[in-house]
This record gives sequence, C-alpha cells and structure tokens, in this order.
Amino acid sequence: MKPTRFFTPENLQIVKRIISRYPSGQERASLVPLLDLAQRQNGTWIPPSAMQEIANSTGLSFEQVHSFILGYPTSFEWRPCAPQLRICNSWMCCHKAKQQDYDIFEAARSVAQPYGVEVKTTGCLGACYGAPAFWFNDKIHTDATKEFIKQVISKELS
Ligand code: FES
Repeated sequence: MKPTRFFTPENLQIVKRIISRYPSGQERASLVPLLDLAQRQNGTWIPPSAMQEIANSTGLSFEQVHSFILGYPTSFEWRPCAPQLRICNSWMCCHKAKQQDYDIFEAARSVAQPYGVEVKTTGCLGACYGAPAFWFNDKIHTDATKEFIKQVISKELS
C-alpha cells in the first residue's frame, strides 16, 4: 500500500528547501519550521500523518517528532482559532510603554476585542529599537500606540 502524503506538492517543495538549510546530521534543527508549516497547512493542530512525513523527511523517528511537539504544547499541539496579538512585555518595551500615559496591554485589549482578537503578552520580539513592539499576523510592529494597534488590526483583518 502506498503511504498517503500529508504535505501538498507546493509545501513539499518548501519542506525540501527547509531541510536543505541544515547540515547533514542536524536535521532535528529543522523541526520548528517544518512543524510550523504542517500546522499552517492543517489549520489548527498537527496530525500523525504530518508527524510521520516530517519524521521520514528528517530521518528522525515518529516518536522523536512527537516528543518534540509535546515539549512545546502551546506552540504545536493546538493553534488557537482566534487571531492572536502579542504585546512584548520585556524590559525595553515595558520601560517605553510606561512613558506613555496608558497601559499598552489594556489599550491593545480594548481595541482588539471588537475584532475578536485575543491579546497576550510575549517575551522580547527582537524589535527593542522600536519599543513598544507587538506581533500580529506573523508580523512584528514597532512604536505601538492604541491608535496604531487598531490601524494594524483593521488593515490586516479587512
Ligand atoms: S523588549 Fe520588546 S522587543 Fe525587545
């Protein structure tokens, strides 16, 4: 019986590109982008067929891929259906946000709520130069203000 494939032909090309970025023997390092790709293709969670295909592609065992997923339950076991917005709460962003007259987290929640966007905090996004920073729809934005966050959400979801 021919095994069924999980990845679409287009994503299979991406899988090959991702794996080619890593030196031989270091295929385990490609798990994060491969699992992210699988999750994006499937929408919410990573099915066993995807784990098996990733295992076959990387030379790892199914159990190794599965245990990696179990190590990152909030990332790979379940992807929330509601769009997510993450406000950086690391030192630089907190410091800059305090210079504003309002709580940036609460401001983000108030503008995000009507759009059904869930707001959470996150660690440093690597955009300290533009603190306060936030992440939405796979993009990092800097110089967060209540108005700017609303603008980004409305543009991205329209
Ligand atoms: S501290 Fe917020 S992006 Fe680095």
